[in-house]
Amino acid sequence: MRKILSILMIAMLSLSILTACGSNGEETAAEEQNSAEVTEQEDTEEAESSDSSAAETLVVYFTRIGNTDGGFPEGVDATTSASLQQTDGGLKGNAQLISEWISDETGGDMFAIESEEIYPADYNATVDKASKDQAADLRPALKSHVDNMDQYKTVVIVFPNWWGDLPMPVYSFFDEYDLSGKEIIVYVTHEGSRYSGTIDTISELEPEADVKEGLSIRGGEVADSETEVRDSI
Ligand SMILES: Cc1cc2nc3c(=O)[nH]c(=O)nc-3n(C[C@H](O)[C@H](O)[C@H](O)COP(=O)(O)O)c2cc1C
Repeated sequence: MRKILSILMIAMLSLSILTACGSNGEETAAEEQNSAEVTEQEDTEEAESSDSSAAETLVVYFTRIGNTDGGFPEGVDATTSASLQQTDGGLKGNAQLISEWISDETGGDMFAIESEEIYPADYNATVDKASKDQAADLRPALKSHVDNMDQYKTVVIVFPNWWGDLPMPVYSFFDEYDLSGKEIIVYVTHEGSRYSGTIDTISELEPEADVKEGLSIRGGEVADSETEVRDSI
């Protein structure tokens, strides 16, 4: 009887060990599969982030609409020399539209120059303020900054001609970064003055960069210039 009991106990013990091994085996396989999936997902995320951070072109723009307190009335285009464009994505400045086409064409990252001190929504008030800021040679503080400027070989800069010159926040941008060794391609929007002296000014601000003209486009013609802009870069 004692022998039979011993055999039974040994059999039960063996069974429980086998069951434990089996379930451990399943868990291990499931864990391995999970960890393989996580690794695959991590690899994809890493590839995506290194893709986006691998861009060699940075498209920088300054535009009035990104730098005001908003509140633009309906039909504002007609009252501001077509300085703003109504698009499917909302109201956009000319420089922003051009930058989006260039970024799309080159795969470049985009960066908006935004002044900490905003400009008035009223067009004429902005014209007055810009004139005073220019006379004072003001360098407005900027809200955001480019952390990884070193990775870019080409900087495309898009801005409106303001009083025959760069808007003062664009001076702040060039003061902040040393673009030596990089190519700078300049796009300007205007209402007749074209580039004025802006190419020479940028060459003085960034003497070790290779500064080139992109296009100068009249504000009222920006909306119809997509093909010309895309072909120019
Ligand atoms: C403050 C200010 C000054 C301007 N000065 C000039 C100028 O001297 N010459 C010119 O042709 N256009 C001038 N303009 C017109 C803008 O360059 C033009 O409307 C531009 O397309 C606006 O672009 P944005 O929508 O990206 O701000 C001026 C506009 C503003 C707001």
